[in-house]
Amino acid sequence: GIGAADAKNLKVKLVLLGDSGVGKSCIVLRFVRGQFDPTSKVTVGASFLSQTIALQDSTTVKFEIWDTAGQERYAALAPLYYRGAGVAVVVYDITSPESFTKAQYWVKELQKHGSADIVMALVGNKADLQDRREVPAQDGIDYAEKNGMFFIETSAKTADNINLLFEEIAKRLP
Ligand code: GTP
Ligand code: MG
Repeated sequence: GIGAADAKNLKVKLVLLGDSGVGKSCIVLRFVRGQFDPTSKVTVGASFLSQTIALQDSTTVKFEIWDTAGQERYAALAPLYYRGAGVAVVVYDITSPESFTKAQYWVKELQKHGSADIVMALVGNKADLQDRREVPAQDGIDYAEKNGMFFIETSAKTADNINLLFEEIAKRLP
């Protein structure tokens, strides 16, 4: 055909999980609005945003994004947001080993209680802070590979790999 007949319009629920301060809200703001907020406020409960992207084969993917609150007091709410999600993006901060440990907690939680066919991405954010790096990229690569996840390092500040993250997720949708 000439293309249009082959187009698909997909819609997927995506949840972001990870420690407070790792940059989840900044990743979403960068992806949806192309902006960065150096004074980003902690998320209360969760926030919702959506964004549609077009792939090269003219498939469109609408991401319905739940940006959860990373502070411990909100941890019990997380199942409300990851239940039924087709995609989970687990974020840590490459300058914070504690946040990498917390990311592994979320991966285990998703493996136990998430959808069986969930697409999971592990994201090392704040890649612009190379001189303060404490989590080697190889640690992220190894953990993601063991757990069947897609891995990428991003910077919401510089926009590095932010669009690529969502494009790669879109390609992996069942
Ligand atoms: P909670 O809502 O509490 O779960 O935190 P969060 O993960 O949403 O963090 P948020 O996006 O609010 O970012 C926390 C802080 O990190 C803010 O000061 C941001 O400006 C900063 N930040 C986020 N992404 C980056 C990044 O890629 N590089 C740098 N240098 N700073 C970033
Ligand atoms: Mg937030």
